[in-house]
Amino acid sequence: MHIAIAASEGVPFSKTGGLADVVGALPRALAALGHQVSVYLPRYRQTKLTDAATVARSITIPFDDQYRFPSVVTAGGQGGVRFYFVEYPPYFDRDALYGTPAGDYPDNAERFALFSRAVLEASKILGVPQIFHCHDWQSALIPVLLRTIYAEDPAFRDVGTVFTIHNMGYQGLFPPDTLPLLMLPWDLFTMSKMEFFGQVNFLKGALAYADYVTTVSRKYSQEIQTAEYGFGLEGVLHDRAATVTGILNGVDYEEWSPQTDKFIAAKYSPQDLSGKAKCKQDLLAAFGIAKADPKLPVIGIVSRFAAQKGFDLIALIMDRLAREEMIVVALGAGDKPYEELFLRLHKQFPNKIAVKVAYDNALAHKIEAGADMFLMPSRYEPCGLNQIYSLRYGTVPIVRATGGLDDTIEPWDARSGKGTGFKFTEYSGESLLLTIKAALEAFRDQTSWQVLMRNGMGKDFSWNASAREYGKVFDKVRQMRGAATASEKVLV
Ligand code: ADP
Ligand code: GLC
Repeated sequence: MHIAIAASEGVPFSKTGGLADVVGALPRALAALGHQVSVYLPRYRQTKLTDAATVARSITIPFDDQYRFPSVVTAGGQGGVRFYFVEYPPYFDRDALYGTPAGDYPDNAERFALFSRAVLEASKILGVPQIFHCHDWQSALIPVLLRTIYAEDPAFRDVGTVFTIHNMGYQGLFPPDTLPLLMLPWDLFTMSKMEFFGQVNFLKGALAYADYVTTVSRKYSQEIQTAEYGFGLEGVLHDRAATVTGILNGVDYEEWSPQTDKFIAAKYSPQDLSGKAKCKQDLLAAFGIAKADPKLPVIGIVSRFAAQKGFDLIALIMDRLAREEMIVVALGAGDKPYEELFLRLHKQFPNKIAVKVAYDNALAHKIEAGADMFLMPSRYEPCGLNQIYSLRYGTVPIVRATGGLDDTIEPWDARSGKGTGFKFTEYSGESLLLTIKAALEAFRDQTSWQVLMRNGMGKDFSWNASAREYGKVFDKVRQMRGAATASEKVLV
């Protein structure tokens, strides 16, 4: 089957979060199953391409003022996957992908509408797939376009669409006059389509028009059908629950494994954990605290700083946590209030919490390898990748039992020697503190701690199984569309 994946970021070309990891790895796993896979991404200033070749010099995209003419370049094939980049420098040759610390770029609707239309037009030149697999609001217009203004296009007659939600918290909300600006019909501005509290909602459009909706863990697929996690779209999801499913993200173990990781001070494995001590020393040095007692447990954090990640809970308990024998090392960047929060905590407790406000892939790997525990107290977490990486590095996750965190971490039970981490449910400082204390207590018994580490290291979250699940969804969609087309033929 030919699958075209359209997304706004993908490793190794562009990344702000886990979406990029997924878009970097899932296509290869699908190709390994025998599918033909094309990936469409915007060409940002940050996108480094060697041997880029133009495959479509000028694609016409109508806007109400004047047409715009992006081109499409390819970086060739990698592991059976062909990567294409929509190039339009006025929109994508910028400092960042989506916005600056001051806020989102004001023309994000135009930027990603142009991208989505360019993907459809380019595919008519480069090969129309059986399935368009779109991710998050930035490519959510693809299913909308296909079933509205492109509905008559014979090139797309049998094409199916699958839309994957990586995060309900980002929906692509724009003022109503975005529709005429993008030359989309006004009848999309109704409650059953894209209208949302007086605004145009791109993600809601995909929920209305995609043949199938997936999200990145089983638990999150259920949570988003409730008011607590649905960000106002729970009703829409609930109404189409029969075509909503959760498929857990996999991990690219070529990138994230202590046996091969090129960023860490020493390699190690479940059979020989000795390298981890060197990684810990190297991590402490990277944070400028090389003199810290290496026997102290180190709790690592690597994160986008956003309300989703639950760090307000740390602020609530830091004075009491600081009394414990431990060190927190945190790497993160994002929303200003959280950057300031972590810097303030470091000032207040300089011996207990070391902080780097940055986006630093090498340091992220060093934390995975050098820390003893990894903290993700998320308010909500569609899947979460870092806790799964942590398992492979023997870095024991402490997580809130939500979304993918709940699906991937099993609570440690010292008596049976089963489990992979520590979980709490209630979103409160008290629950977090109790759980961290339980982890610190367990760390004192190094013999059983190593059992816990090895339990995690032995888990397999590679992409193969999840790619098969996507394959099943694609098959279902093809059947649905095949059936629809067949009945149309009868009518004609
Ligand atoms: P999300 O997509 O919500 O940010 P995930 O856990 O799915 O959360 O994925 C986050 C990805 O981004 C991981 O690969 C993680 O290592 C990386 N990452 C997040 N913040 C940073 C940072 N400050 N520096 C380097 N890598 C980061
Ligand atoms: C989102 C989610 C995260 C998920 C990632 C990849 O950014 O916040 O939980 O792992 O997408 O699917």
